[in-house]
Amino acid sequence: MADARPFHWEFTPEPVAREVFRIEGGVPLRGNVSISGSKNAALKLFAAATLTGERCRFTNVPEIEDVRVMAETLRDLGVVVDHPQDNVYEIASGDVEWLFVPLEAAAKMRASFILLGPLLARFGRVIISNPGGDRIGRRPVDLHVDAMRSLGAQIDYRNGYYFATAPGRLRGTEIRFPFVSVMSTENAMLAATLAEGQTVIRPAAQEPEVDDLIAFLQRMGADVERTYPDTIEVNGKRRLRGADHEVIADRIEAATFVIAAAVTGGKVTVERAPCDHLGAFVEVVGRTGVDVTCSSDTIEVDGSSLIDPGFRASDIETAPYPGLATDTQSPISVLLTQSNGTSHVHETIFEDRLEWLAELNRMGADARMIDSRHATITGRTPLVGAEVEIGDLRAGASLILAALAAQGTSTIHGAHHVHRGYENIERKFLDLGARIERVAEGTDSTSS
Ligand code: EPZ
Repeated sequence: MADARPFHWEFTPEPVAREVFRIEGGVPLRGNVSISGSKNAALKLFAAATLTGERCRFTNVPEIEDVRVMAETLRDLGVVVDHPQDNVYEIASGDVEWLFVPLEAAAKMRASFILLGPLLARFGRVIISNPGGDRIGRRPVDLHVDAMRSLGAQIDYRNGYYFATAPGRLRGTEIRFPFVSVMSTENAMLAATLAEGQTVIRPAAQEPEVDDLIAFLQRMGADVERTYPDTIEVNGKRRLRGADHEVIADRIEAATFVIAAAVTGGKVTVERAPCDHLGAFVEVVGRTGVDVTCSSDTIEVDGSSLIDPGFRASDIETAPYPGLATDTQSPISVLLTQSNGTSHVHETIFEDRLEWLAELNRMGADARMIDSRHATITGRTPLVGAEVEIGDLRAGASLILAALAAQGTSTIHGAHHVHRGYENIERKFLDLGARIERVAEGTDSTSS
């Protein structure tokens, strides 16, 4: 072992730069915005690169904090991660010796748990921190662990860590999940690519990011295929090769900018947008009366009917893909505050993903929790600038949308949450005419 690294109880979280967004609202956004690569695809692609010792090259990688954390976590394992230029990463996992994913990584980014499958399959052992829950839910990883065990791994849990070993090769099998889980599907699929024999995963998540991972694995020479909408079949290989891959566009970032245009009454063209991946979202937004057209990779949004005749209330229910993505629930909720009538919001994926509505109410919204998964939003209520606190990535982006729609100045604490998943978000909004800045906490002025 290279050097003694701290275990669970010696962990002290690194201090994060406490910054705030200061936003002067009420400006209709205008112009063009270009969408970056997908966070939820890039992180898994980096993990897949550890399945081979050969070099892998990724383009259109978003310049976001989560990608930097994943790159750092891989470097700590002994993986060579080069970043020759913006949005380009090269990864070579030749001499990986320290098969330990510490709490530091898990605390910064839950998705580090996606390293379980590929490291176990390729090296036969790994110690990995339990990522724990976050503001949107308990988020257990039992399905991931059960899938690895059914592939023949032995996994013990001690002191907050999973100690996983696979004596000999993992063995292909039928993996039946009790319900759809995106990263459990991806972890099982990654492990199965080097297992002996065939693995069938059902119900397999259908998210576009899963298909992007399948496309990359096929380039690496893996025998993996989606044989039915909810079924993925893998025939394990002894080894895989390096490959190049362009990351798909981020459908959640695209959705965020569509809502920004609508709630400010603006007119925006969203470019490099994955229209094919946004069916349910565009249908919901169109139902409220927002003029939104999506063709190939461009979305035209015209929010000028915000005031007259106004948007219509609309009930929404999140679901696994191709249903309405839970990551678009909070941005759409801001739109519903600007729609006439009462809308019902049903969050079916995460049990605490409506908590953030209390912060939105501080800006004058009329959102009422019925229970942890149901809420009503009654509008149209003019939003006003306020001082609010971000609890998680998507709620953070949604508070920015609310502040852009609000009259007056807002101060939004916890900017670091948003930088985990949005590339250059202030720059992109500034280019659309927004009055937004990011300043160190304590240097801001309170709301008007
Ligand atoms: C992925 O999380 C995304 N994250 C999430 O995006 C996204 O919200 C989610 O899929 C659903 O689309 C990444 O890809 C990095 P799940 P994941 O496993 O895979 C329960 C964002 O904002 N569950 O599909 O962790 C779980 O608690 C993030 O970008 C278990 O009970 O989500 C949840 O209720 C947020 N046991 C449900 O399944 C398990 O072992 C679905 O979660 C695994 C999951």
